[in-house]
Amino acid sequence: NIVPVIISGGVGSRLWPISRALHPKPFIPLPEGGTLIRKTFARAVELEGVDHVVTVTNRDLLFLTADEYAEVAAPGVKKTFLLEPFGRDTAAAVALAALHVARENPDAILVVLPADHLILDQAGFRASVAKAAALAASGRIVTFGVKPDRPETGFGYVEAEGDRVLRFVEKPNAATAAQFIASGRFFWNSGMFCFAARSMLEAMQDLCPDVLSSARAALEKGRASDARDRLTVEVDRDSFAAVPAVSIDYAVMEKAGNVGFVPCGFDWSDIGSWSVLSELVSADDRGNRATGEAILHDAANCYVHSEDRLVGLVGVSDLLIVDTPDALLVAHKDKAQEVKDLYNRLKADG
Ligand code: GDD
Ligand code: MG
Repeated sequence: NIVPVIISGGVGSRLWPISRALHPKPFIPLPEGGTLIRKTFARAVELEGVDHVVTVTNRDLLFLTADEYAEVAAPGVKKTFLLEPFGRDTAAAVALAALHVARENPDAILVVLPADHLILDQAGFRASVAKAAALAASGRIVTFGVKPDRPETGFGYVEAEGDRVLRFVEKPNAATAAQFIASGRFFWNSGMFCFAARSMLEAMQDLCPDVLSSARAALEKGRASDARDRLTVEVDRDSFAAVPAVSIDYAVMEKAGNVGFVPCGFDWSDIGSWSVLSELVSADDRGNRATGEAILHDAANCYVHSEDRLVGLVGVSDLLIVDTPDALLVAHKDKAQEVKDLYNRLKADG
């Protein structure tokens, strides 16, 4: 049986002002309806034979997350929430999930699903996960590769041969990324992983024993509460504070020797910025897109998101405009990535 593990943390600062610490990216209402976290849960429970979904997230997000899951029919599916007091990055989150599942069955196959990806082709997704699960059953830690279309530096890259990963490079610099793309031998790492609980724990014991031992202590000393179809475990704050903050990509994937490979047989996008999110909305004949009320005169290639006010544009182009009750963002489309810098400045200034 496959146990999906949904990991959700981080702020999604490039989607400010909609995405914030207590209202992060997976909870943003999508133009087409629903949210990324709800869609991720739906995708998880639709996998073959799933009767247990583990979610690792911040404890402040438990109720928001449970509300989103409640929108998805999942009869007989046990929901486990492993709750972090603060983020310690993804190696810690994966360790918690693997440790928890291994208590009952070390051979259980886990599939890690980030809560901020958009995947539309469910049948393709199921087929790729089935392939990965078969490789994982033979002891591999499997990555899912995406055909790249640009030298993005915000992703990990994998060089693959058949079902084996030869090399995993997390977030290369621009020159290296360009070289990888030019070689035609690399895929993006999708950020989803599939492995037997036992394989991941052995790899961590080898490659990042500090992460594993502190995560184990945090889980063992955690406070559990079990209701009918929901188990929550609040991990122990002091033990968790001792976990080194490192991503699974750096801590395990770059170094592990037994990494398996499955190409994503489905569309995939990481909804990382306003320019990606805006593309989910259909454009008019001048390339303008809008959610909410907007009136445009001689505007081109603009995106307007407005929550309860009418937004008017005259004679402008290539702008992203995001209006919320307490903050307004106006940005050039080419600078969508830099909204993150704005967010970091805001945070630094308190
Ligand atoms: N529970 C928990 N705790 N989840 C976390 C934490 C944490 O401390 N930090 C991040 N996450 C969740 C995020 O919400 C996201 O769903 C997922 O883990 C990945 O984290 P990101 O911070 O978004 O990673 P990234 O985008 O920089 O890089 C990863 O994803 C890329 C594809 O989107 C890497 O795996 C790359 O190699 C990959 O290409
Ligand atoms: Mg990401």
